[in-house]
Amino acid sequence: MIKVSAPGKLMLLGEHAVVYGYPCIATAVDQRMKATVARLEEPDFELEAADVDVHGYKKPLAEIGKGDIPKGAKFVEIALQNFLQKYPIKGGVRVETSSEFSSLFGFGSSSASTVCAIKAFSELFGVKLSQKEMFDISYKTVLDIQGKGSGFDVAAAIYGGTFYFVTGGKVIEPLEIKELPLIVGYTGVKADTTTLIKQVAEKKEKNPEKVERIFQAIAKLVDEAKQKMFEGDWERVGKLMDFNQEYLRDLGVSSEKLEALISAAKKAGAWGAKLSGAGGGDCMIVLAASERQDAVKDAIMKAGGQVIAVRSNAQGVRVETTDDQSELFIVVDKDDNVLDYRSRYDCHHDKTLIHRTVGAIVFDEKGRVLLQKRSSTKDMGAGLWGISCAGHVRKGQEYEDALRRELVEELGIDMSVECLTKFIVADEDETEMSVLYKGISNGPFTPNPEEVEQLEFLSPRELAFKVATREVTLTKCAEVSLQKAGILR
Ligand code: MEV
Repeated sequence: MIKVSAPGKLMLLGEHAVVYGYPCIATAVDQRMKATVARLEEPDFELEAADVDVHGYKKPLAEIGKGDIPKGAKFVEIALQNFLQKYPIKGGVRVETSSEFSSLFGFGSSSASTVCAIKAFSELFGVKLSQKEMFDISYKTVLDIQGKGSGFDVAAAIYGGTFYFVTGGKVIEPLEIKELPLIVGYTGVKADTTTLIKQVAEKKEKNPEKVERIFQAIAKLVDEAKQKMFEGDWERVGKLMDFNQEYLRDLGVSSEKLEALISAAKKAGAWGAKLSGAGGGDCMIVLAASERQDAVKDAIMKAGGQVIAVRSNAQGVRVETTDDQSELFIVVDKDDNVLDYRSRYDCHHDKTLIHRTVGAIVFDEKGRVLLQKRSSTKDMGAGLWGISCAGHVRKGQEYEDALRRELVEELGIDMSVECLTKFIVADEDETEMSVLYKGISNGPFTPNPEEVEQLEFLSPRELAFKVATREVTLTKCAEVSLQKAGILR
């Protein structure tokens, strides 16, 4: 079983134009879609999505994508169909989704659930997908269902943060911004993105030159806003939002209610305000200095709007982990000299931070190797197979102390070990200085479910066979450790 979550999104500048090949700037918000996904023995698809009124939905995998699909099940079902087309699986899957945000607000619940599904399937079935690969398969899913859309909402759910984006993910450029001085107001009117996109398309058909000119002007101000955001010139970004709102008005996607909230916010001293997303209702956004924020919120509410408490720049899709991200690890140079102490999170997101780890290969008396399947709540290598025991050296610990602690924590065993070798190993996300030990034990083991999903003794032959047939997918560190120990070639 695996739990994942993905953030919602807010469009900051550039909506509609971005559907036609132009750039936009968007941010991920800290209200998240969550999904728990488990394997099933039978080749079925089961879905429980209470927030969109889907209960006890079940069909054979061979039928997915066919027949009448309830609206609330579409994105997860088509995501699964697209995933299976590329990566066939054995058995089936059960998905449960739940959302922290109302699907009313247009925060992108459909894209966030699509991304959650793809991320969970890939983790559960050991398919390593890059962020761009995840984007492509999720974006295809959204297009299969909606027909049109830029994909910025999919990018927000995957990459998180605040980013500059060009249609279809041609450019996805993270913008290093700490916090946006942003207020979000909801009109109370639910808008339909597909209808509004169609409306703009019709306008473009009737008056192609005018609409193209508007798009080009929007693209220009998006590019300037990107620069001004880097400079922290929020006053100018606010002004650019005002210009953007004028163009959106010309495109016919604003509404009386949106205009009322925007004008109230401006009168209360905002730097700038505009609709956010497709328009026709839904949300508006405001940039305002900290000393004006309360007055602006009051003004929005007095004008009949609802202020929605969200934080921008949220983290992209992630496995919900039980690992403490602030735990301090030991950062070393290539010769294992201590350089610094950095958090687990930093070490797992920066390959230049070589950090100390330990591992042990435990043999039983028949010479079989104990392998562990890592729990689905691990922040790294969730659901993959590792050697018998592995972990990090914490600040203040020596290698062997760390290993003895890991043996107790992961396997519930205190045993003597012999040091084999030390090596540097890097995968796509991190670089480790790893010391490898070996020992002999027949157990009994008491695996900690937060760390270990399954333990299995395999002979070196069985192990090589299962790796070759992909029945067992190893972490990079496990693969190198088993090679160093002469067990795998
Ligand atoms: C909707 O939130 C924003 C639009 O630009 C559509 C899209 O980018 O997919 C209108």
